[in-house]
Amino acid sequence: MRAVVRERYGPAEGLQLRELGVPTISADQVLIRVQAAGLDRGAWHVMTGRPYLMRLVFGLRTPRDITLGSEVAGVVVAVGAQVSDLRPGDRVFGTCLGSGHGSFADYAVARAGKLAPMPVGVSFEQAAVIPVSAQTALQALRNHGRMQAGQRVLVIGASGGVGTFAVQLAKAFGAVVTGVCSPGKVDLVRSLGADHVIDYRATDLTRVAERFDLVLDIGGTRPLGQLRRLLTRTGTLVLVGGEGGDRWTGGLGRQLGALLLSRFVPQRLVSFITRENSADLGTLAGMMEAGTLRPVIDRECGLAQVPEAMRDLEAGRVRGKVAVSVSS
Ligand SMILES: NC(=O)c1ccc[n+]([C@@H]2O[C@H](COP(=O)([O-])OP(=O)(O)OC[C@H]3O[C@@H](n4cnc5c(N)ncnc54)[C@H](OP(=O)(O)O)[C@@H]3O)[C@@H](O)[C@H]2O)c1
Repeated sequence: MRAVVRERYGPAEGLQLRELGVPTISADQVLIRVQAAGLDRGAWHVMTGRPYLMRLVFGLRTPRDITLGSEVAGVVVAVGAQVSDLRPGDRVFGTCLGSGHGSFADYAVARAGKLAPMPVGVSFEQAAVIPVSAQTALQALRNHGRMQAGQRVLVIGASGGVGTFAVQLAKAFGAVVTGVCSPGKVDLVRSLGADHVIDYRATDLTRVAERFDLVLDIGGTRPLGQLRRLLTRTGTLVLVGGEGGDRWTGGLGRQLGALLLSRFVPQRLVSFITRENSADLGTLAGMMEAGTLRPVIDRECGLAQVPEAMRDLEAGRVRGKVAVSVSS
């Protein structure tokens, strides 16, 4: 099978398209013939091994897993002995990070509990950009933000993978949404239903007078003090992203700071790691079928174009997500 691989951590130049054997599966795993994969920011972090702290999980000197790609949509080819709810031929979508066989390949391996049936009437490419990004947005708003209808929600990083879903989900849950993005993506964020859009180049967020019940920081670069000033007295800050920071720990300093400070202030300051699961994928699939959630796909590309897509993602040139068409 074809797979995008790398032997070392580093930039997209180190990626190669190579022939590998079709993976074997263990008892709780599922082998998927990949139709499409999603490119999310996490794949860039796993490729570069930055921040370095994550190498404790993914391999200290060199990556333990040479393949890449977490988000997958495709057809089940084989299931392990303990998998009872899926069978060969089922069309599924979900995540395969940590299985050792990523989705930028003809075949990928996932745990059954991180997959769900494909939404009806939705293409593999559309489904493939959902699993990490939309689950993250859903869990940020519902589980960690405890969002209520009528609340004022600020989404910093509204034009990217997670943000384009967060804006739509917050609107669907009845919030008044303000999105923050770069000037070239203001129209996109408005088209997703945001009530207000702030161009972060033209407007200094520290000078925004409005106070928000919930702030999602997906852009991940601003100090806690600045973010707290955007909140009401008892508002909630959810730190979703951690770009910037030092190369060892990335945004971890902010997350630890939020954890400590949250004990002493009336505001809730939380960070989290997405827990991928079939139930949340099912919720999102239902919303896609109902037409209340639509993925923003910047473009579709093939496996050979993954390095170029990685570079575009790093440079901020992607609007929403890139879908990798694997079957074509
Ligand atoms: N907690 C978790 O488990 C979890 C799960 C998934 C992702 N994440 C993290 O969430 C973050 C975003 O992921 P993603 O997939 O959405 O990435 P992405 O597609 O690259 O989007 C990044 C977003 O950040 C915005 N941004 C960049 N610089 C900004 C600035 N100075 N001010 C405000 N916004 C700025 C971008 O806006 P423009 O493009 O308009 O500049 C874009 O909307 C990453 O750090 C990722 O690692 C965390």
